[in-house]
Amino acid sequence: MRYGYFDDDRREYVITRPDTPLPWINYLGSEDYFGIISNTAGGYSFYRDARLRRLTRYRYNNAPLDLGGRYLYLRDDETGEFWSPSWQPTGGALDAYECRHGMGYTTIASLRAGIRAETTYVVPLGETLEVWRTRLTNERAEAASLSLFGTIEWCLWDANDDATNFQRNWSIGEVLVEDGVIYHTTEYRERRDHFGFFACSGPSAGFDTSRDAFLGAYRGWDRPLAVERGATTGSVAHGWQPIGAHQVRVRLQPGETREVVFVLGYGENPREAKFHPPGSGHLDTRRVRPVIRRYLDGTVVEEALVALRRRWDEQLGSLQVATGNEHLDRMVNTWNAYQNMVTFNLSRSASLFESGVGRGMGFRDSNQDLLGFVHMVPERARQRILDIAGTQLATGGAWHQYQPLTKRGNDAVGSGFNDDPAWLVLAVDAYLRETGELAILDEPVPYDTTPGTEQPLSDHVRRALDYTVERLGPHGLPLIGRADWNDCLNLNCFSDTPGESFQTTQNREGGVAESVFIAGLFVLAANAWAAIEERRGETAAAARYRSAATDMVAAVERHGWDGAWFRRAYDFFGEPVGSAANDEGQIFIEPQGICVLAGIGLEDGRARRALDSVRERLATPHGIVLQQPAYSGYRLNLGEISSYPPGYKENGGIFCHTNPWVMIAEALAGNAAGALDYYLRINPSAREGISDVHRCEPYVYAQMIAGPDAPTHGEAKNSWLTGTAAWNYVAATQWLVGVRPELDGLGIDPHLPDGWREVHVTRRFRGTEYRIAVHPGTGRVKRLTVDGVPVEGNVVPLPGESGTVVEVEAFREAPAEAVP
Ligand code: BGC
Ligand code: NOJ
Repeated sequence: MRYGYFDDDRREYVITRPDTPLPWINYLGSEDYFGIISNTAGGYSFYRDARLRRLTRYRYNNAPLDLGGRYLYLRDDETGEFWSPSWQPTGGALDAYECRHGMGYTTIASLRAGIRAETTYVVPLGETLEVWRTRLTNERAEAASLSLFGTIEWCLWDANDDATNFQRNWSIGEVLVEDGVIYHTTEYRERRDHFGFFACSGPSAGFDTSRDAFLGAYRGWDRPLAVERGATTGSVAHGWQPIGAHQVRVRLQPGETREVVFVLGYGENPREAKFHPPGSGHLDTRRVRPVIRRYLDGTVVEEALVALRRRWDEQLGSLQVATGNEHLDRMVNTWNAYQNMVTFNLSRSASLFESGVGRGMGFRDSNQDLLGFVHMVPERARQRILDIAGTQLATGGAWHQYQPLTKRGNDAVGSGFNDDPAWLVLAVDAYLRETGELAILDEPVPYDTTPGTEQPLSDHVRRALDYTVERLGPHGLPLIGRADWNDCLNLNCFSDTPGESFQTTQNREGGVAESVFIAGLFVLAANAWAAIEERRGETAAAARYRSAATDMVAAVERHGWDGAWFRRAYDFFGEPVGSAANDEGQIFIEPQGICVLAGIGLEDGRARRALDSVRERLATPHGIVLQQPAYSGYRLNLGEISSYPPGYKENGGIFCHTNPWVMIAEALAGNAAGALDYYLRINPSAREGISDVHRCEPYVYAQMIAGPDAPTHGEAKNSWLTGTAAWNYVAATQWLVGVRPELDGLGIDPHLPDGWREVHVTRRFRGTEYRIAVHPGTGRVKRLTVDGVPVEGNVVPLPGESGTVVEVEAFREAPAEAVP
């Protein structure tokens, strides 16, 4: 069952009924100002940090789930009938409804009682504000007298404090209303230099800033008293819950359309110039007024939308494919790339499932997100690498998270996740393969954000790898620390106390738990880095990392192989995890994927054997589960993984992040059809037809789909903010379609099943646009023509000058008999 359709030409997903199984959201903004918005206008906004600079209030885990938003109300001032043109929060019937989620904007349109309302929500490029542009059209035969209300509820900045500290917060709320603009000024008089604003193009018929006054006692957002009565009260909030509500009266002749614009935003004043007159304690609004005025003009809004569309066309234009598979093309060309941008911006902070208060930027998460983003805006990826590396510890280890606002490591979550450093190596490798800019390695970068500790970035990468080598356990495998990629495999935790964090608690010292996953990851990273060291002429270092990788492969072969698959780990006591010898959790997906990806077992048949085991034991029609058999009860020596009911999350859920590793592994092992098959099982577009089962958005990946052990097998959760996005993109573009940046040029090595038709790819790479045609046939690509000139092998050499267009034709081993 579907709830909408893809409009590929406009790059929009069109939701055609408002009662989607879950709120289906989109993101506004991709620089400093962000918002999430659901298909019924729920959501919230923030400036840079979803916790510390939250502009508007949202109630997570509410009933209904999605409460708090950019709510408009329409009221027929003749009959008193009122409704929400976005369906929620009044929930009344609509005669027509359509929500279009696009690239950085959302339009919600509806019809009721002959009044059409269409609102586009967008954050203009370069601004710290959002615009809601509403167009009202009277489709009745007679004139209509309407009131339009635009409303938001201010959050008192720190979203965590806002949701908990009522004894203080219900006394501190402050607003200022000046020239029809509502300013949110809580704490501005004292230590803050920032404020919120909410304006309306009018003509204004009044406002409210006190929630109680607007909603009325014992009422919710579903039936505000001011809307019912048709009149705001002009309230000025003191404490309690400050809001912003504007009322506009519109008289529309039959067929007439009128535009009303609301502007919501974030402003900052210099510390020494906060007040006007100086020392008065009165917010100086003079700096922000011009920008507010500008965006209250509908033509400026239209220009902003056009500029945003152009920006996205440009960004997405860096890689476009035409493979003939609509699900692959649609995800790669639009939605997967778009999701990559969102994960790059927000890491795991703010979504329907991430409350914005808990998780800043993850070290491993952000490094992986970069893999799917680097080709779109390499300069931003460059800065991100330097920021992340700047939080690295002098040991080579890492804070597990860092704060987006301060860019400092977050000691609340701690460190000691022993896979973290290796992801930095892969991010640097991806950046270098994309740009070839070896000079980044000489950039001075501090350790732990401490001035005076700067070392070249190359030193950070080396220490990241050395960190693993210096922490090996009794089997010569890397010590796992608090956890590796699988945050829930907590082998040193031993928690039996409710509420303890599995990730930061360590109740027993002296454990020697080891990770086969980190071993595979290390081999991948060390070999990639060695190639870069060779490129820099650092042959001794290169040899050192190559030999460390070789030793690690040997350790995996000796102690990481279980007979038919790779083991997962050794626990605190040195007992294997992910082995046929275990009663549950016998086989895990992660080491099968990552070890083969690192090349382990490709020559001696182990890779094939491991992948066959995956197919036999872990693959389901909805994707590949994380491990089997799922743990049926809590195990002190394994931690959080065994705390989930079977079939969910890390305990036998389909943890989608890991699936592309197996896709790539299948491709490397020569099974292109198998790789594509796995790809399509979790591809959101390919699952659109079962939206009633999948339940999350059909246009973005979710972190998890419930496994067969759960009663809800096939149901997705935790959409949007997941490493699934970047990795599926990498698998689809660099391995299936096979256009992969290499240090020496653009590699063209598709892994598509025999019989596949001609594939076209446009790829912007190091300043040149490559237009690639892969001719049908069987086997690997063996030769190319580059602007008509034959080239042996499958790497397009680097071009002489940038700004040119290069035509590439790729020929597979044996040509197809007939081109379909
Ligand atoms: C989740 C993991 C996540 C971790 C982060 C756990 O509850 O299951 O997926 O990585 O929290 O702290
Ligand atoms: C989600 C976390 O964000 C990610 O870092 C981790 O690797 C996975 N969960 C698996 O536990």
